[in-house]
Amino acid sequence: MPDTALDSRISSEPTTSDSATSLAPAAVPAGTGGATIQLLDVTKSYPGQVAPAVDHITLEIAAGEIVVLVGPSGCGKTTTMKMINRLIEPTSGQILIGGTDVLKLDADEHRRNVGYVIQQTGLFPHMRIAENIGLVPRMLGWSKRRTADRVEELLEVVGLPPGEYARRYPRELSGGQQQRVGVARALAADPPVMLMDEPFGATDPITRDRLQNEFLRLQREMGKTIVFVTHDFDEALKMGDRIAVLGPQSVIAQFDTPEAILAAPANDYVSSFIGSGGQLKRLGLMPLRDADLRPVPARKDLSQITIDASLHDALDLMLESGQDKVLVAADESGEGEVFGSIRLDDLMAAIADDSADDPSDDPTAKLDPSAGS
Ligand SMILES: Nc1ncnc2c1ncn2[C@@H]1O[C@H](COP(=O)(O)OP(=O)(O)OP(=O)(O)O)[C@@H](O)[C@H]1O
Ligand SMILES: [Mg+2]
Repeated sequence: MPDTALDSRISSEPTTSDSATSLAPAAVPAGTGGATIQLLDVTKSYPGQVAPAVDHITLEIAAGEIVVLVGPSGCGKTTTMKMINRLIEPTSGQILIGGTDVLKLDADEHRRNVGYVIQQTGLFPHMRIAENIGLVPRMLGWSKRRTADRVEELLEVVGLPPGEYARRYPRELSGGQQQRVGVARALAADPPVMLMDEPFGATDPITRDRLQNEFLRLQREMGKTIVFVTHDFDEALKMGDRIAVLGPQSVIAQFDTPEAILAAPANDYVSSFIGSGGQLKRLGLMPLRDADLRPVPARKDLSQITIDASLHDALDLMLESGQDKVLVAADESGEGEVFGSIRLDDLMAAIADDSADDPSDDPTAKLDPSAGS
């Protein structure tokens, strides 16, 4: 994005006083994807605190990438994130989005160009769902018609049929539905950058899994640049193109792809985040779609798994079914096309291959071949 792209958006828009809910948006036309984010030597010292909350962090995030910040409570994740949309002003350092120095922009205007999803969705209780989602576009001067069309489109996108949900109030939705509205609202004006602070934290594991999947599917179309904060390393593995493991004061312990971090944690601190079974977790990053499948066997009594699942899902199914082989198919119904099969040996080989140079963690010790046969 050229330098002028953000500057040109500075205008006489009304300002919002409620920064915590100022999620979002707008700026580039729909579908134009993300913008790079660069944090250069950024520090935040809160008044009266001895040590800085964020100490000289430098982090570059590519356009269209999801970077997950993971680290212990109080390490500065939220502070780091909020400096990107200037809900918190850095003490020193530079923040560039699409090459533009955002600290030189009008803060309120800038904030509206960055989608923001917070854990407690922050919906206005007295506004209907449609009004909540359309708020930022209206503030950006979109016409009623254009805003209404966009709201309708987004409700469809997040799986809440507008006819049923647009006129409800937030309290008339479940927690998971409110989270979806939070995501829709952050997307409303199609911001190139989205900040997501534990956005799915308040939901049960099943809803959370579904929201994560839906969001990843959306992101494949949108290509936003996303900074995603979580406490949960497994969520980081699932959501991140790259993960920044942060220590106290947001010092970066490791910044790399999920695969690389699992294969070679930089130090004991990072290992402690991965927890036990790091090698097994790697199976979760390996899609069946990319695996070498065996031919479809003659046996007809095997369980079936979708090709969209991971090698880890296949392992779970083997352990659950007591079979050391499963069919890989277009879907789980038993009616779709069957592409091939995969065996427990194949899963063991997949992690053994990749970890040959890491004798400290023997994956085969955790996989008992007799368990599935
Ligand atoms: N307004 C503030 N004034 C003073 N100190 C603050 C303020 N906000 C946060 N802090 C301190 O800055 C540090 C980082 O806080 P931050 O909210 O960024 O952590 P976090 O990593 O998001 O934690 P959590 O995982 O618990 O949300 C903490 O020690 C916190 O107490
Ligand atoms: Mg936080």
